[in-house]
Amino acid sequence: MSTSINLAVIPGDGIGQEVVAQGLKVLAAVLPQDVKLETREYDLGAQRWHRTGETLPDGELEALKDHDAILLGAIGDPSVPSGVLERGLLLKLRFAFDHYVNLRPSKLFPNTATPLAGRPEIDFVVVREGTEGPYTGNGGSLRTGTPAEVATEVSVNTAYGVERVVRDAYERAAARPRKKLTLVHKNNVLVYAGHMWKNIFDKVGREYPQVATDYLHVDAATIFFVTQPERFDVIVTDNLFGDILTDLAAAVTGGIGLAASGNINPTGAFPSMFEPVHGSAPDIAGTGKADPTATVLSVALMLRHLGYEEQAVRIEDAVAADLAERDGTFRSTDRIGDALAARVAG
Ligand code: NAI
Ligand code: MG
Repeated sequence: MSTSINLAVIPGDGIGQEVVAQGLKVLAAVLPQDVKLETREYDLGAQRWHRTGETLPDGELEALKDHDAILLGAIGDPSVPSGVLERGLLLKLRFAFDHYVNLRPSKLFPNTATPLAGRPEIDFVVVREGTEGPYTGNGGSLRTGTPAEVATEVSVNTAYGVERVVRDAYERAAARPRKKLTLVHKNNVLVYAGHMWKNIFDKVGREYPQVATDYLHVDAATIFFVTQPERFDVIVTDNLFGDILTDLAAAVTGGIGLAASGNINPTGAFPSMFEPVHGSAPDIAGTGKADPTATVLSVALMLRHLGYEEQAVRIEDAVAADLAERDGTFRSTDRIGDALAARVAG
């Protein structure tokens, strides 16, 4: 644990700006006096692209490497063609900084609404592979725009990439009380990648006899997320499956306004990046309706990653207490940020 945090901040677009301001407010309130917080803001996202045509210039990519961590709001706007910022900024960062663990915890807090009947206990974490699968840009199109167009999008899976994320998931499962790890894939159809994932999952599992294991096809997993979410503890899965499953997980645990994530490089070779799962929400930007809780919980993940466990727990407890007090009633972005900052400081 360092006595200073040198944080890069990318507020981004839309509500990204609004929620990051609250996340920083809570971070400043929770840190002990003797921990020095330095922040540098990076102007990246849709506005920058409109102004200069740049998404993530090399100079800024280099500068970002010098930080201990990155806090990101959200990137994207309907005025930018789909894929430009996702590929040119978000995915570029995840790949360049080798964020091979995409960590997405899902917890149903007391007094938050869930569409699920009977209020099951939900407390699981998805470890989504972050650097491979169908997201590598390995594809192309031929005869583009003609009736004879051909498009490929190849899913890349390496034994190296799968083993390191599977190993990370076993470590996380072994450290949790229930010690259960579920592999989600689709190895009855995607036989090449699926069998490699399963073989590596079984092989690494022999080193973790204390962890109970399970396997589910992704389609079955969507059923159990709704009918039996309490069966999950830690889930490890492919990049695309993890993307989709974690939106569903957010929907059953109080909504996208609460879903936090970390793009983690466990080796520490590059800074890890923490961000809410949601996007820039242009439909509510500027109205004060954005819930900053997902960003605040992402700050907690960041603190835990940097070794500030006590402060991370303090934030999570504050969120639980605040949600209980809110009891489903509307609070503005600022008001939630102020309430959480007051609780963690107290
Ligand atoms: P979105 O997550 O921005 O919004 C989906 C719905 O959830 C909207 O109705 C929105 O109002 C609501 N919502 C989202 N966050 C909320 C919050 N904190 N509090 C209350 N309500 C919230 O997803 P959408 O609309 O598909 O995408 C909008 C833009 O964001 C697009 O340009 C997309 O590419 C980008 N995006 C960026 C992401 C990122 O930066 N990591 C992730 C997802 C989308
Ligand atoms: Mg997504």
